[in-house]
Amino acid sequence: MTKSFVTIADLSKEKIMSLLEAAARFEANPNRKTLDGKVIATLFFEPSTRTRLSFETAVNRLGGRVIGFSDAATSSSSKGESLKDTIMMVSNYADLIVMRHHLEGAARYASEVSPVPIINAGDGANQHPSQTMLDLYSIYKTQGTLENLNIYLVGDLKYGRTVHSLLMAMRHFNPQFHFIAPKELAMPNEYKLYCKEHGIKYVEHTDFTEETIADADILYMTRVQRERFTDLMEYERVKDVYILKADMLKGTRDNLRILHPLPRVNEIAYDVDESPKAYYFQQAKNGLYIREALICDCLNIIES
Ligand code: CP
Repeated sequence: MTKSFVTIADLSKEKIMSLLEAAARFEANPNRKTLDGKVIATLFFEPSTRTRLSFETAVNRLGGRVIGFSDAATSSSSKGESLKDTIMMVSNYADLIVMRHHLEGAARYASEVSPVPIINAGDGANQHPSQTMLDLYSIYKTQGTLENLNIYLVGDLKYGRTVHSLLMAMRHFNPQFHFIAPKELAMPNEYKLYCKEHGIKYVEHTDFTEETIADADILYMTRVQRERFTDLMEYERVKDVYILKADMLKGTRDNLRILHPLPRVNEIAYDVDESPKAYYFQQAKNGLYIREALICDCLNIIES
Protein backbone atom coordinates (compact mmCIF):
# COMPACT_ATOMS: atom_id res chain seq x y z
CA MET A 1 0.00 0.00 0.00
CA THR A 2 1.33 3.47 -0.88
CA LYS A 3 1.80 6.10 1.80
CA SER A 4 0.24 9.32 0.54
CA PHE A 5 -0.01 12.58 2.47
CA VAL A 6 -3.42 14.04 1.69
CA THR A 7 -4.74 15.55 4.91
CA ILE A 8 -3.22 16.75 8.14
CA ALA A 9 -6.08 15.02 9.96
CA ASP A 10 -4.35 11.67 9.33
CA LEU A 11 -1.32 12.59 11.48
CA SER A 12 -1.10 11.67 15.15
CA LYS A 13 0.69 13.91 17.62
CA GLU A 14 3.59 11.43 17.71
CA LYS A 15 3.85 11.44 13.91
CA ILE A 16 3.84 15.25 13.78
CA MET A 17 6.61 15.45 16.39
CA SER A 18 8.64 12.80 14.60
CA LEU A 19 8.41 14.72 11.29
CA LEU A 20 9.45 17.94 13.04
CA GLU A 21 12.48 16.15 14.48
CA ALA A 22 13.34 14.84 11.01
CA ALA A 23 13.02 18.38 9.60
CA ALA A 24 15.48 19.63 12.23
CA ARG A 25 17.97 16.95 11.12
CA PHE A 26 17.52 17.98 7.49
CA GLU A 27 18.00 21.62 8.45
CA ALA A 28 21.31 20.69 10.09
CA ASN A 29 22.35 18.76 6.97
CA PRO A 30 20.10 19.49 3.95
CA ASN A 31 22.38 18.09 1.22
CA ARG A 32 22.42 14.30 0.99
CA LYS A 33 22.13 11.46 -1.52
CA THR A 34 19.00 9.97 0.07
CA LEU A 35 16.90 10.14 -3.13
CA ASP A 36 19.62 8.89 -5.47
CA GLY A 37 17.87 7.08 -8.36
CA LYS A 38 14.39 8.41 -7.48
CA VAL A 39 12.21 10.55 -9.75
CA ILE A 40 9.62 12.88 -8.20
CA ALA A 41 6.84 14.49 -10.27
CA THR A 42 5.45 17.92 -9.43
CA LEU A 43 2.05 18.45 -11.08
CA PHE A 44 0.83 21.99 -10.46
CA PHE A 45 -2.62 22.63 -11.93
CA GLU A 46 -2.64 25.94 -9.99
CA PRO A 47 0.10 28.60 -9.72
CA SER A 48 2.76 28.33 -7.02
CA THR A 49 6.14 29.77 -6.15
CA ARG A 50 7.10 28.47 -2.70
CA THR A 51 5.46 25.07 -2.61
CA ARG A 52 6.64 23.88 -6.00
CA LEU A 53 10.12 25.34 -5.75
CA SER A 54 10.70 24.11 -2.19
CA PHE A 55 9.55 20.59 -3.10
CA GLU A 56 11.78 20.64 -6.16
CA THR A 57 14.69 22.04 -4.14
CA ALA A 58 14.15 19.31 -1.55
CA VAL A 59 14.42 16.64 -4.27
CA ASN A 60 17.49 18.29 -5.79
CA ARG A 61 19.23 18.64 -2.43
CA LEU A 62 18.57 14.95 -1.70
CA GLY A 63 20.03 13.80 -5.02
CA GLY A 64 16.78 12.89 -6.79
CA ARG A 65 15.39 14.14 -10.10
CA VAL A 66 12.26 16.16 -10.86
CA ILE A 67 9.76 15.98 -13.72
CA GLY A 68 6.41 17.73 -14.06
CA PHE A 69 4.62 20.88 -15.07
CA SER A 70 3.90 24.23 -13.45
CA ASP A 71 1.15 25.20 -15.89
CA ALA A 72 -1.61 22.71 -16.68
CA ALA A 73 -2.11 24.46 -20.04
CA THR A 74 1.13 22.84 -21.19
CA SER A 75 -0.07 19.35 -20.18
CA SER A 76 -2.54 17.08 -21.94
CA SER A 77 -5.20 17.95 -19.36
CA SER A 78 -5.76 20.98 -21.64
CA LYS A 79 -6.80 18.46 -24.34
CA GLY A 80 -9.33 16.87 -21.99
CA GLU A 81 -7.26 14.14 -20.36
CA SER A 82 -8.83 13.18 -17.04
CA LEU A 83 -7.07 13.52 -13.70
CA LYS A 84 -7.13 9.73 -13.32
CA ASP A 85 -5.40 9.20 -16.67
CA THR A 86 -2.83 11.91 -15.91
CA ILE A 87 -2.00 10.28 -12.58
CA MET A 88 -1.80 6.80 -14.14
CA MET A 89 0.56 8.10 -16.83
CA VAL A 90 2.84 10.04 -14.50
CA SER A 91 3.03 7.11 -12.08
CA ASN A 92 4.66 5.17 -14.96
CA TYR A 93 7.56 7.60 -14.76
CA ALA A 94 7.82 8.81 -11.16
CA ASP A 95 8.19 7.27 -7.69
CA LEU A 96 6.07 9.95 -5.99
CA ILE A 97 3.72 12.71 -7.19
CA VAL A 98 3.37 16.13 -5.57
CA MET A 99 0.15 17.68 -6.82
CA ARG A 100 -1.68 21.00 -6.47
CA HIS A 101 -5.17 21.16 -7.91
CA HIS A 102 -8.02 23.68 -7.84
CA LEU A 103 -10.65 21.05 -6.96
CA GLU A 104 -11.30 20.18 -3.31
CA GLY A 105 -10.82 16.45 -2.87
CA ALA A 106 -8.57 16.09 -5.96
CA ALA A 107 -5.61 14.90 -3.88
CA ARG A 108 -7.72 12.30 -2.08
CA TYR A 109 -9.06 11.05 -5.41
CA ALA A 110 -5.55 10.93 -6.91
CA SER A 111 -4.29 8.95 -3.90
CA GLU A 112 -7.08 6.40 -4.43
CA VAL A 113 -6.20 5.75 -8.07
CA SER A 114 -2.42 6.19 -7.94
CA PRO A 115 0.03 3.30 -7.68
CA VAL A 116 2.62 5.73 -6.22
CA PRO A 117 2.31 8.05 -3.19
CA ILE A 118 0.62 11.44 -3.61
CA ILE A 119 1.53 14.52 -1.59
CA ASN A 120 -1.23 17.12 -1.51
CA ALA A 121 0.32 20.50 -2.32
CA GLY A 122 -3.08 22.22 -1.93
CA ASP A 123 -6.55 21.21 -3.14
CA GLY A 124 -8.84 24.18 -3.72
CA ALA A 125 -9.99 25.78 -0.45
CA ASN A 126 -9.72 22.45 1.35
CA GLN A 127 -6.25 21.56 2.69
CA HIS A 128 -2.56 22.40 2.33
CA PRO A 129 -0.99 19.89 4.72
CA SER A 130 2.70 20.32 3.82
CA GLN A 131 2.25 24.07 4.46
CA THR A 132 0.83 23.16 7.85
CA MET A 133 3.85 21.02 8.67
CA LEU A 134 6.15 23.94 7.88
CA ASP A 135 3.90 26.22 9.93
CA LEU A 136 4.15 23.82 12.87
CA TYR A 137 7.92 23.64 12.44
CA SER A 138 8.08 27.44 12.41
CA ILE A 139 5.91 27.72 15.51
CA TYR A 140 7.97 25.08 17.31
CA LYS A 141 11.25 26.75 16.40
CA THR A 142 10.14 30.21 17.49
CA GLN A 143 8.11 29.34 20.60
CA GLY A 144 10.04 26.27 21.79
CA THR A 145 6.74 24.38 22.09
CA LEU A 146 3.46 23.78 20.28
CA GLU A 147 1.49 23.56 23.54
CA ASN A 148 -0.91 26.14 25.04
CA LEU A 149 -0.31 28.95 22.53
CA ASN A 150 -2.52 31.92 21.66
CA ILE A 151 -2.86 31.76 17.89
CA TYR A 152 -4.57 34.54 15.93
CA LEU A 153 -5.73 33.71 12.41
CA VAL A 154 -6.40 36.86 10.39
CA GLY A 155 -8.02 37.56 7.02
CA ASP A 156 -9.57 35.04 4.68
CA LEU A 157 -10.63 32.25 6.99
CA LYS A 158 -13.34 31.08 4.59
CA TYR A 159 -11.24 30.07 1.61
CA GLY A 160 -7.85 29.87 3.35
CA ARG A 161 -6.83 26.22 3.15
CA THR A 162 -3.70 26.88 5.23
CA VAL A 163 -5.75 28.03 8.24
CA HIS A 164 -8.11 25.08 7.89
CA SER A 165 -5.20 22.62 7.99
CA LEU A 166 -3.44 24.47 10.84
CA LEU A 167 -6.60 24.41 12.93
CA MET A 168 -6.89 20.65 12.55
CA ALA A 169 -3.21 20.01 13.30
CA MET A 170 -3.31 22.07 16.50
CA ARG A 171 -6.01 19.88 18.05
CA HIS A 172 -3.22 17.92 19.76
CA PHE A 173 -1.69 20.95 21.48
CA ASN A 174 -4.42 22.76 23.46
CA PRO A 175 -4.34 26.08 21.56
CA GLN A 176 -6.47 29.16 22.19
CA PHE A 177 -7.49 30.35 18.72
CA HIS A 178 -8.73 33.80 17.79
CA PHE A 179 -10.43 34.09 14.39
CA ILE A 180 -10.26 37.63 12.97
CA ALA A 181 -12.24 37.97 9.75
CA PRO A 182 -14.97 40.07 8.16
CA LYS A 183 -18.29 38.25 8.23
CA GLU A 184 -18.05 37.45 4.50
CA LEU A 185 -14.78 35.54 5.15
CA ALA A 186 -15.53 34.06 8.57
CA MET A 187 -14.31 30.59 9.54
CA PRO A 188 -16.79 28.13 7.96
CA ASN A 189 -19.18 26.33 10.30
CA GLU A 190 -17.68 22.93 9.50
CA TYR A 191 -14.36 24.04 11.03
CA LYS A 192 -16.05 25.62 14.04
CA LEU A 193 -17.86 22.33 14.52
CA TYR A 194 -14.49 20.57 14.25
CA CYS A 195 -13.22 22.81 17.06
CA LYS A 196 -16.19 21.93 19.25
CA GLU A 197 -15.80 18.21 18.58
CA HIS A 198 -12.10 18.32 19.45
CA GLY A 199 -12.26 20.71 22.40
CA ILE A 200 -10.38 23.48 20.57
CA LYS A 201 -11.06 26.88 22.14
CA TYR A 202 -11.78 29.81 19.84
CA VAL A 203 -13.05 33.38 19.93
CA GLU A 204 -14.27 35.27 16.87
CA HIS A 205 -13.50 38.95 16.20
CA THR A 206 -14.17 41.41 13.42
CA ASP A 207 -11.87 44.13 14.86
CA PHE A 208 -8.16 43.97 14.05
CA THR A 209 -6.43 46.40 16.42
CA GLU A 210 -3.37 46.59 18.65
CA GLU A 211 -5.61 45.73 21.62
CA THR A 212 -7.09 42.66 19.93
CA ILE A 213 -3.67 41.10 19.29
CA ALA A 214 -1.96 42.14 22.56
CA ASP A 215 -1.62 38.62 23.97
CA ALA A 216 -0.86 36.80 20.70
CA ASP A 217 2.02 34.31 20.52
CA ILE A 218 1.43 33.70 16.82
CA LEU A 219 -0.22 36.12 14.41
CA TYR A 220 -1.03 34.18 11.25
CA MET A 221 -1.90 36.63 8.47
CA THR A 222 -3.54 35.47 5.24
CA ARG A 223 -4.21 36.90 1.82
CA VAL A 224 -7.75 37.49 0.58
CA GLN A 225 -7.68 35.12 -2.38
CA ARG A 226 -9.13 36.81 -5.43
CA GLU A 227 -9.10 33.51 -7.36
CA ARG A 228 -11.64 31.91 -4.98
CA PHE A 229 -14.36 34.59 -5.42
CA THR A 230 -17.20 34.15 -7.89
CA ASP A 231 -18.45 37.68 -7.07
CA LEU A 232 -15.60 40.16 -7.72
CA MET A 233 -17.61 43.00 -6.14
CA GLU A 234 -17.46 41.07 -2.88
CA TYR A 235 -13.70 40.65 -3.31
CA GLU A 236 -13.33 44.42 -3.79
CA ARG A 237 -15.32 45.04 -0.58
CA VAL A 238 -13.14 42.83 1.62
CA LYS A 239 -9.69 42.76 0.02
CA ASP A 240 -8.13 45.56 2.11
CA VAL A 241 -10.08 45.11 5.29
CA TYR A 242 -7.10 44.15 7.50
CA ILE A 243 -3.60 45.53 7.06
CA LEU A 244 -0.93 44.83 9.66
CA LYS A 245 1.33 47.85 10.17
CA ALA A 246 4.51 48.11 12.28
CA ASP A 247 2.77 50.55 14.69
CA MET A 248 0.35 47.82 15.73
CA LEU A 249 3.19 45.71 17.15
CA LYS A 250 4.19 48.15 19.92
CA GLY A 251 2.16 46.54 22.68
CA THR A 252 2.57 42.94 21.59
CA ARG A 253 4.42 40.16 23.39
CA ASP A 254 8.18 39.79 22.92
CA ASN A 255 7.74 36.20 21.78
CA LEU A 256 5.14 37.14 19.14
CA ARG A 257 6.02 35.93 15.66
CA ILE A 258 4.14 36.92 12.53
CA LEU A 259 3.53 34.13 10.06
CA HIS A 260 2.03 34.25 6.59
CA PRO A 261 1.91 31.38 4.09
CA LEU A 262 2.63 33.95 1.35
CA PRO A 263 2.23 35.35 -1.22
CA ARG A 264 1.16 38.59 0.43
CA VAL A 265 -0.67 41.28 -1.46
CA ASN A 266 -1.02 44.20 0.94
CA GLU A 267 -2.22 42.63 4.22
CA ILE A 268 1.24 43.11 5.78
CA ALA A 269 2.75 46.55 5.26
CA TYR A 270 6.39 46.50 4.16
CA ASP A 271 7.46 48.34 7.34
CA VAL A 272 6.65 45.15 9.30
CA ASP A 273 9.45 43.32 7.47
CA GLU A 274 12.00 45.21 9.60
CA SER A 275 10.50 43.91 12.84
CA PRO A 276 12.24 40.98 14.57
CA LYS A 277 8.72 39.62 15.02
CA ALA A 278 8.31 39.17 11.24
CA TYR A 279 9.03 35.53 10.50
CA TYR A 280 7.32 34.84 7.15
CA PHE A 281 10.45 34.62 5.01
CA GLN A 282 12.16 32.23 7.45
CA GLN A 283 8.86 30.32 7.58
CA ALA A 284 9.01 29.76 3.81
CA LYS A 285 12.63 28.62 4.14
CA ASN A 286 11.56 26.06 6.74
CA GLY A 287 9.40 24.54 3.99
CA LEU A 288 12.49 23.04 2.39
CA TYR A 289 13.43 20.98 5.46
CA ILE A 290 9.93 19.78 6.24
CA ARG A 291 9.42 18.78 2.59
CA GLU A 292 12.66 16.81 2.63
CA ALA A 293 11.24 14.97 5.65
CA LEU A 294 7.81 14.42 4.05
CA ILE A 295 9.17 13.05 0.77
CA CYS A 296 11.40 10.56 2.60
CA ASP A 297 8.55 9.56 4.89
CA CYS A 298 6.13 8.90 1.99
CA LEU A 299 8.77 6.80 0.23
CA ASN A 300 9.59 4.92 3.47
CA ILE A 301 13.19 5.98 3.03
CA ILE A 302 15.34 6.09 6.14
CA GLU A 303 17.41 9.29 6.25
CA SER A 304 21.02 8.76 5.25
N1 CP B 1 2.33 29.16 0.62
C1 CP B 1 2.11 28.74 -0.65
O1 CP B 1 1.41 27.74 -0.89
O2 CP B 1 2.73 29.51 -1.58
P1 CP B 1 2.69 29.22 -3.14
O3 CP B 1 1.27 29.39 -3.60
O4 CP B 1 3.64 30.20 -3.76
O5 CP B 1 3.13 27.78 -3.34
